[in-house]
Amino acid sequence: MRILGIETSCDETAAAVVEKGTKILSNALASSIELHQKTGGIIPEVAAREQLKCIIPVIEEALQKTKKVDAIAVTIGPGLIGSLLVGTETAKTLTYTWKKPIVPINHLQAHLYANWLEGKKPRFPAIGLVISGGHTDLVLMKTHGKIKWLGGTRDDAAGECFDKTARVLGLPYPGGPAIAKLAEKGNPRTYDLPRPMIKQENHDFSFSGLKTAVINFKRKQKRIKKADMAAGIQQAIVDVVVKKTIRAAQKHKVKSVLLAGGVAANKQLREQMQTQITNKVNFFVPSPKLCTDNATYIASCAFFNFKSLPWQKIQANPSLSIEEGTSQT
Ligand code: KG4
Ligand code: ZN
Repeated sequence: MRILGIETSCDETAAAVVEKGTKILSNALASSIELHQKTGGIIPEVAAREQLKCIIPVIEEALQKTKKVDAIAVTIGPGLIGSLLVGTETAKTLTYTWKKPIVPINHLQAHLYANWLEGKKPRFPAIGLVISGGHTDLVLMKTHGKIKWLGGTRDDAAGECFDKTARVLGLPYPGGPAIAKLAEKGNPRTYDLPRPMIKQENHDFSFSGLKTAVINFKRKQKRIKKADMAAGIQQAIVDVVVKKTIRAAQKHKVKSVLLAGGVAANKQLREQMQTQITNKVNFFVPSPKLCTDNATYIASCAFFNFKSLPWQKIQANPSLSIEEGTSQT
């Protein structure tokens, strides 16, 4: 079965064709990130207008080699409503014209499916950490479609913390890659930054205190060592998420740990998780290109959770939670 995935939840317009949920046949992507760099963050109206411009060319590119698909999968949420609507309405039109099934997809659950697209496949039960610009969620994945939310951020997401502290340091958007690059030259121990909630047994996170600590250092010290601060921020975030993910994996005695989402592209996070995880548990993290938003994992998620809905029932839902079934709109 070949599925065309469509992803327009934020500032990336993406379409991909994936066979049997595991083999990428095409992966087309347009990003409006350069526009957002000018404003230091995403303006939803601008993102939606860019989605409109790009959606047809991106779908055409994804279908260049593989003209025939058996179904269409589309992100219905969470995300920016204007951006989501471009994807869902386009997918509905294609479904209606092609007379093919349409599968609504939860963007957060789908991120985890990037781990099914390269080589070895995860075994259940698994702990998933979805760590992106808008979300930091720890879930227990009992099997396909059975996802239990264990905890998440109480304030800023990890990616948001990277983005906001980068702004404080005068670095470009998106902040994660900018901080990671600068951190290579920095000493993570120069600044004593907090590791919020690291000692608490629960599965929740909090990153706004870390952001405030960075702002306070910046206010107090005129000449801040930017590379050291970047290394410190990265290390604080990584320490917290690695500790809490491993704790959840031990508690639930899982066979696999899956990382997903844009922040999973972070080298320090990938390496630290890999070294600290016990060898009984298999660790999966997609290649960096598949961590950030794209449509391959949308198509893969649809294959493993195939539940087609009539096109009239497909509705964009900006505040969909990670647990919500993809077909219950
Ligand atoms: O999953 P994603 O592409 O979009 C959302 O659904 O949010 O994630 C984007 C987030 C941004 O906050 C960005 O700063 C972060 O992922 N990010 C990184 C890295 N690459 C992207 N954070 C840390 N290190 C990276 N290498
Ligand atoms: Zn995402």
